[in-house]
Amino acid sequence: MAKLVIVSNRLPVAVSVRGGSVEIREAVGGLATAIKSFLAATESGKTLGFDELVWVGWSGVKAEQETEEVRAKLREMGLLTVPLTGEEFQLFYEGFCNSTLWPLFHSFTVYTVFEAKFWESYLQVNHKYAEAVSAVARPGDFVWVHDYHLMLVPGMLREQAPELAVGFFLHIPFPPAEVYQLMPPPWRTALLDGLLGADLVGFHIHEYVNNFLRSVSKFLGYRTEAGMVYAGRRKIRVGAFPISIDFDFFHNSSEVPEVERQIEELRQRLRGLKIVFSIDRLDYTKGVINRIHAWERFLKERPGWRGRATFILVVVPSRTGVPQYEAMKREIEREVGRINGELGEVDWVPIVYISRYIPTTTLLALYNIADVALITPLKDGMNLVAKEYVASRRDCRGVLILSETAGAAHELVQALVVNPNDESGIVNAIERALSMDPEEQCRRIKSMQERIRQHNVVKWGVDFIHALALAYNDNLMSAAT
Ligand code: G6P
Repeated sequence: MAKLVIVSNRLPVAVSVRGGSVEIREAVGGLATAIKSFLAATESGKTLGFDELVWVGWSGVKAEQETEEVRAKLREMGLLTVPLTGEEFQLFYEGFCNSTLWPLFHSFTVYTVFEAKFWESYLQVNHKYAEAVSAVARPGDFVWVHDYHLMLVPGMLREQAPELAVGFFLHIPFPPAEVYQLMPPPWRTALLDGLLGADLVGFHIHEYVNNFLRSVSKFLGYRTEAGMVYAGRRKIRVGAFPISIDFDFFHNSSEVPEVERQIEELRQRLRGLKIVFSIDRLDYTKGVINRIHAWERFLKERPGWRGRATFILVVVPSRTGVPQYEAMKREIEREVGRINGELGEVDWVPIVYISRYIPTTTLLALYNIADVALITPLKDGMNLVAKEYVASRRDCRGVLILSETAGAAHELVQALVVNPNDESGIVNAIERALSMDPEEQCRRIKSMQERIRQHNVVKWGVDFIHALALAYNDNLMSAAT
């Protein structure tokens, strides 16, 4: 019997240590939520044939605060921590992960910082993760490594423990080869080699698969074909596995009593106002400023909607130590203040701005009452908010406006698809969405719901594990011949 080892930068919990007392809460965020839903549906991998589950990752607190008590509590939950020191947090997490890889992979080339000390820390921390995995994994176990923080781990595992089945999934875009080329050559080849230590490398959509394959042939010279890299005796499978959500959870949300209560309360308080809604982690990739400006232009060009519609803009703080995130927060606050000051009335605000984490029940209530979800990222690997909004609408109402630059646009083709930089296109889409008749809303929502229902998060995880088993067996057989 084999073990399933999940490896991600963050564990699915948020640990906080205050004055000696330890608090462990569930972590929010797409990656953790998706993996947790997949694990719940497969009884921690048992229905797929695994007899044990271990999740390796960072607890979210600095190594200095990570006491034996914290480690023991997490161990009881099947979670194995990789402690990060304050310096690693700065150079690895805020540095190479979020000042180099994150902006470059989203094609924000001017925001990308290339620093040798960031890279050295990335190497060192990836080693720590690989060692933590090697300590628990035995030959034949399945190791599923997640996201851009850990791109070297598959290659390190291949060297340390060649009999493991190793899969890697990237939760963000893989950029075009011309953008990836900006990375200094020794780092860019090491990262590709690192990924190719896996038996299977997965991305959200075919576009990222193709970008990756082009970089592999351009920078490593390996032969590639659709869905496959040939590296010496090894064959690495590469595929698209669009991540998704727990459809039923969102679809049934309006029947949860607390959500029902909040829906009623919101409806009363909003007194028939049309609601345009968005929620994002604070990030320059999400196009929040563009969206605010498009909304301003809509209100200026279509003044008849003033006082009749309001925009509820929720931005959840994130990575506050990285300078661009701080600057963006200030810019949002300035622009929202300016627009509300210029256009607001004593009994109406153009933008209701919430800059904090909101509880899940409130989010579900907002999904259920929003007439329009305005999801306009400049670049987004997938975007699960779009899927959550659509799935939540059991009443068959609501209109999704979605950027063509979000991975989700490849599946949610009945959305009103916009370009995030095309302000007048967004203005027209908002008008169309607010005026759309209920039959058309329902037709669009229904077909998108069908897609999400069939391609839910369990399918994502199960498809990936099955493809990994095939890829691993292939490599085992060719090693034996
Ligand atoms: C994105 C990444 C995840 C990450 C999440 C939250 O979705 O793909 O790997 O966990 O953002 O960001 P944070 O930096 O807080 O972990």
